[in-house]
Amino acid sequence: MNKMNNLEDYAIDYRKSVTEPEKFWAYQAERFVWRKKWDTVLEYDFEDYNVEWYKNGKLNITENCLDRHLLNRSDKTAIHWVPNDPKEQDRIFTYKQLHEEVSRFANVLKNNGVQKGDRVCLYMPMVPELAIAVLACARIGAIHSVVFGGFSADALAGRINDAEAKILLTANFGPRGSKKIGLKNIADEALENCPGIETAIVLQRTDDAVEMKAGRDKWWHEELEKVETFCEPEIMDSEDPLFILYTSGSTGKPKGVVHTTGGYMVYTAYTFRNVFQYQEDDIYWCTADIGWITGHSYIVYGPLLEGATSVMFEGVPTFPDAGRFWRIIDRLGVNTFYTAPTAIRALMAQGLEYVELYKLDSLKVLGTVGEPINREAWDWYHHHIGKNQCPIVDTWWQTETGGIMISPIAGVLPTKPTYATLPLPGIQPVLLDSEGNELKGNGVEGNLCIKFPWPSMIRTTWGDHERCKNTYFSTYKGYYFTGDGCRRDEDGYYRIMGRVDDVINVSGHRLGTAEVENAINMHEAVVESAVVGYPHDIKGQGIYAYVVCDAAKMEVSTMDDLKAEIAATVNEKIGPIARPDKIQIVRGLPKTRSGKIMRRILRKIAAGETSNFGDTSTLLDPSIVEAIKEGVVRDQ
Ligand code: WTA
Repeated sequence: MNKMNNLEDYAIDYRKSVTEPEKFWAYQAERFVWRKKWDTVLEYDFEDYNVEWYKNGKLNITENCLDRHLLNRSDKTAIHWVPNDPKEQDRIFTYKQLHEEVSRFANVLKNNGVQKGDRVCLYMPMVPELAIAVLACARIGAIHSVVFGGFSADALAGRINDAEAKILLTANFGPRGSKKIGLKNIADEALENCPGIETAIVLQRTDDAVEMKAGRDKWWHEELEKVETFCEPEIMDSEDPLFILYTSGSTGKPKGVVHTTGGYMVYTAYTFRNVFQYQEDDIYWCTADIGWITGHSYIVYGPLLEGATSVMFEGVPTFPDAGRFWRIIDRLGVNTFYTAPTAIRALMAQGLEYVELYKLDSLKVLGTVGEPINREAWDWYHHHIGKNQCPIVDTWWQTETGGIMISPIAGVLPTKPTYATLPLPGIQPVLLDSEGNELKGNGVEGNLCIKFPWPSMIRTTWGDHERCKNTYFSTYKGYYFTGDGCRRDEDGYYRIMGRVDDVINVSGHRLGTAEVENAINMHEAVVESAVVGYPHDIKGQGIYAYVVCDAAKMEVSTMDDLKAEIAATVNEKIGPIARPDKIQIVRGLPKTRSGKIMRRILRKIAAGETSNFGDTSTLLDPSIVEAIKEGVVRDQ
């Protein structure tokens, strides 16, 4: 069935999806417009990783997001955009208007030489033009690579060059809360190191002037004047890449996760409809940024595939005050609200007076994503926002999975605070011990793996298929390894325990510890560093950096200046999201005789523990641990 309405439906569909996966997923795909039907539903090999869904099927995803709705929903709102500044006007795009805007911008891209398969990098604020440009790429078969507007020039340049993008889409400035991000200036700095970029198209989001480089930079609005409205969709193969999205892993360099067309379309639509129990007239709001996978799958593609009204918000939860979310929900009559635990915790800390001013009675379903939600935040969300009436869908998934994997289905599956609960149909999770044995039965904890393909799974890492194989399919032969630890409780419900690799999750943003260390090490006084996560009340995890410096190279007078410089270096290399919360200058790092840093100890110290360090007999110099501990006391 396309939509499960009760527990029994779920049980039937889940069983079917396991016993007859091809039949199950063929049925789910049939509701879309295919220019040519697929030959086979699924072919795969988890050993030498390769997976193909809906092989030889031909389609265009924007035809399914837009054209398909023109008959019945042409005047329905597709995107309702709310600006950062409440004094500015909202902008509303009906399906008909969005179809036109996407077609026009697709023609702009074509006019600028973009062809099928070319990579287009987007470094944009959260404005409708971002969604339009994403869809315009898909319209002509260009591969979009959206880079979150909070990344630095270096991070942007690295992503542009890795994808070999030939065009950059950006804006002069991006308003965010009381600040304005100088996207164009950052982009200019990045482009100094990006020889492959021929053209930059710049949206004039604010009145502020920026320099335009002759021969390279063009104004968005001027380019639009040159084109016609109609653009025939490019016919794509099911397995043609739709987009690249960079994400952090346990090694230094972020990897370009590649998603393809057919499977991603079927799965994002299926999960959107089912998890949120979407109904035709619902107003749906996901507060993520399109720079992350949540924005791709559940602001743009999933909702539009279902013909929904998707709210898009440019601002931040606390501007102009901590009632902003709740005011928007009341004003727009939002029925489904999907946000991150970190936002809930931040708003919870601001007190109930901001909530009590609003009715919030339009809400039917609440969702969370991106990191584990703690019990206090879950209860607060349930009680004060959902008025104990709205199921909370705690959705576990990843950039690599493309769509929601383990989650309650609103009102259909029971919820359990802090639990992602049960796998969606088509998803076969297993927990493995460190030897790779499947842990059977309930009441067990292990490494979360998936043992069967699903339509929106990662296809490759851009330009480096070996890396994809090694990262996800080599730890446990025959399984996709998620990097998360997980518990299956006595009732068979899944609870995500957090990453088991060197990835930390700061305010729902994924960062590799090695990536942050590399940035810190760029500071000339730094000899080496070790970064770990530690529990943080609002962010979930904070970044704790232990840094060894060369006294001879320190040009600053105080430790605080040195720390500020190190933090600035991280800002410059990655962006403000990676800025360490705590930096401790240490004499040395606790290493084993073979030179491996004992991160376990550093994690404990960062969490405020001063004993129970376990076996430390392999440490080369145990006195270093004492020195660091003393330093911690001094630091606080
Ligand atoms: C974590 C975000 C607990 C997890 C969609 C995963 C979660 C990583 C949850 C992926 C959740 C995501 N409960 N942890 N509901 N959702 N995570 O790629 O560690 O930005 O591996 O994708 O976030 O982060 P990513």
